Amino acid sequence: MKCVLFIPCLTLAATTAAGAVDYVKDIKPLLKERCASCHGTVKQKGDLRLDAGALISKDVHQELLKRVKSHDEDERMPPEGARLTPMQVETLRQWIAAGAPYPRDEVIPKKPSEHWSFQPVKRPAVPKSAHAHPIDAFVFGDKTTAPRAAPNALLRRVFLDLIGLLPTLDEQARFAHDSHSSHQSHGSDATNETYATVIDDLLTRPEYGERWARHWLDVVRYADTNGYERDAEKPFVWRYRDYVIEALNKDKPFDRFVIEQIAGDELQDKSLETQIATGFLRLGHWDDEPADPPTDRYDQLDDIVSTTGQAFLGLTIGCARCHDHKFEPLSQRDYYSLVAVFNPLERPRQGRTELTVKIDNTEVYTWKQAEGTPPLTHVLLRGSPSRLGDRVEPASPAILNETLGQKSRLGLAQWIASEKNPLTARVIVNRVWQQHFGQGLESTANDFGLMGAAPSHPQLLDWLAHWFVHEAKWSLRKLHRLILTSRAWQQVKSDDSLLRYRRLEAEAIRDSILAVSGQLNPKRFGPAMRPAIPAAALEANTDKDKIWKPSDKREASRRSIYTFIKRGLVVPMLETLDLADTVSSCPQRQVTTVAPQALTLFNGDFVNEQAKHFAARLKREAGDDATKQISLAWRLALCREPSSDELAKMHAFLQNESLEQLCRVILNLNEFVYPE
Ligand code: HEC
Ligand code: HEC
Repeated sequence: MKCVLFIPCLTLAATTAAGAVDYVKDIKPLLKERCASCHGTVKQKGDLRLDAGALISKDVHQELLKRVKSHDEDERMPPEGARLTPMQVETLRQWIAAGAPYPRDEVIPKKPSEHWSFQPVKRPAVPKSAHAHPIDAFVFGDKTTAPRAAPNALLRRVFLDLIGLLPTLDEQARFAHDSHSSHQSHGSDATNETYATVIDDLLTRPEYGERWARHWLDVVRYADTNGYERDAEKPFVWRYRDYVIEALNKDKPFDRFVIEQIAGDELQDKSLETQIATGFLRLGHWDDEPADPPTDRYDQLDDIVSTTGQAFLGLTIGCARCHDHKFEPLSQRDYYSLVAVFNPLERPRQGRTELTVKIDNTEVYTWKQAEGTPPLTHVLLRGSPSRLGDRVEPASPAILNETLGQKSRLGLAQWIASEKNPLTARVIVNRVWQQHFGQGLESTANDFGLMGAAPSHPQLLDWLAHWFVHEAKWSLRKLHRLILTSRAWQQVKSDDSLLRYRRLEAEAIRDSILAVSGQLNPKRFGPAMRPAIPAAALEANTDKDKIWKPSDKREASRRSIYTFIKRGLVVPMLETLDLADTVSSCPQRQVTTVAPQALTLFNGDFVNEQAKHFAARLKREAGDDATKQISLAWRLALCREPSSDELAKMHAFLQNESLEQLCRVILNLNEFVYPE
């Protein structure tokens, strides 16, 4: 059962009834776990709130104790689930006997309708500050800014960040030259300009879309297969992947990007492209031989509703499938009103075989909108397809207080993408910030609800969201440029800067290795490629000879975004390096540190093979002189010259080891995978 995972299993272990009872440690968590779902901000059964000490008035103390002690099933609290343990009851009794003390500064949670992210986005004034850049004014205020990172480190950072590849030697030399000459004639402002030119250049390269599309694919649970037992391929689903890459490269305004994915087939100016975009709706995992077809149908709708809620609105609406959301002002009615929006969709298939939709003769992986009157949608009591509750019509969640223009997918899409929607712009601006800084201004990127974290810089977030809609007109390119020209982003990383040290994602590591070794195949778009998989990873499969047909070397050396993502068998190198979950929306990659990573990077077939190519390249381009080889390797992989110390160590290393081994070491340096 889905929900079990998420219920906080807070057991108040044998709190010593003898010691003084501590509200924060002993009482608050107990009330939160067992009472707040009915007596909190969302619901106030019996007109009672128990989610802050100040709200628990003297009048209710005795009644509260009576209720938790009661053996009368009509009276006892909580009315469902296990009774409180005698120890818990005793703890409550002692706390009340002591006068029910609580800390003065305890924050009383606001009413849901007052929650910050549900309020319209207003543009806060930029704080008065000596810093001209608005982001710096918000981040640094009166303080001086932190120093900027060294030019070569910053160049490497901006390349990895925007295109997921390293600057070539030519690009490094050009940058050094431009920043030097402009610095001489105009001072440090000109260095700014040199950076800005690099940023603009990178944002118009096709590699930008290939890098940033992958971030969006994480959010929309992209994969090339259906998962489950048979894990069959989704025919032509890669067209959706290519659509995302192209949308970014064209700088398609984000509001339009949203509308096309949800309802590109219902637009007046629909085209092949906008219909491919609706592949978004069909990316989910799917059981082609379900034991229970009606439940399966609602599982598919749930996949769409839950993903739409998280990806665009930052709402965990999926929790309201079986019961009203326990922690958010989202009801089952809200949930099924969204189900009603998508209910007319039909999955094109012939038995277990999936079909595509033919549009202008090319084939598109998407749903078909049923013709005629749309099917009726009811609230399903406890989420059960056989227990129909009230009938519902397409609608947006009531807490947001906006009605849909049209009761259709297009109506929903337009409402989500409207500049009046308080969530959409905040959510996307935060996602972009998160990718650049390693952590969002709101750290729970898929959850802007009451249970989400409080934003670290609420004013900045709102300023950015407002600016993004009203000045940048939803242009992601402009947003990147604004962020990357700030000192907050360009500064030296440190523990107290907003910038986090983060390991590069699997794709950027793999692509950078290929680029450094000289093997990267720049071929763009089209059907996915399959890198070789170690035999050991196939052993467990019954059809291990057929399950994975690797592409030829050249094809397999394309950028990682073109990798075939098979839900049941994710390429081990990518999986080990924390590829996104392929089943549900992934707001942020995990960064785990586990032994298999070291093995993959140090001993894996892929890295060994690339180290060979890298060594051959060094010999080819630097000749036989070891110093030149080492220097070239350092510049290619780390964008700097080796220090004299490093040079001496590498010379010593080469006394006993091959150049190929040295290359392997470089690809394993922290500096290679953790951009400065
Ligand atoms: C599943 C929902 C639910 C949970 C969980 C729950 N309650 Fe209640 N509670 C109610 C309802 C409904 C009422 C109003 C009906 C009634 O008085 O029985 C109520 C009433 C009360 C009242 C009486 C209020 C009054 O002014 O008369 C108290 C006291 C109370 N609950 C305490 C608690 C405590 C303490 C917990 C946790 C240990 C708890 N409740 C958990 C649903 C819940
Ligand atoms: C597939 C159905 C289903 C979904 C989806 C679901 N739940 Fe539940 N949940 C239940 C059932 C059944 C219960 C027990 C009966 C009840 O309280 O309604 C329950 C109970 C709960 C409780 C109450 C536990 C208690 O002791 O009172 C919480 C809290 C909860 N769910 C949270 C969530 C959250 C958060 C999500 C989304 C991440 C979620 N649920 C999604 C079925 C579901």
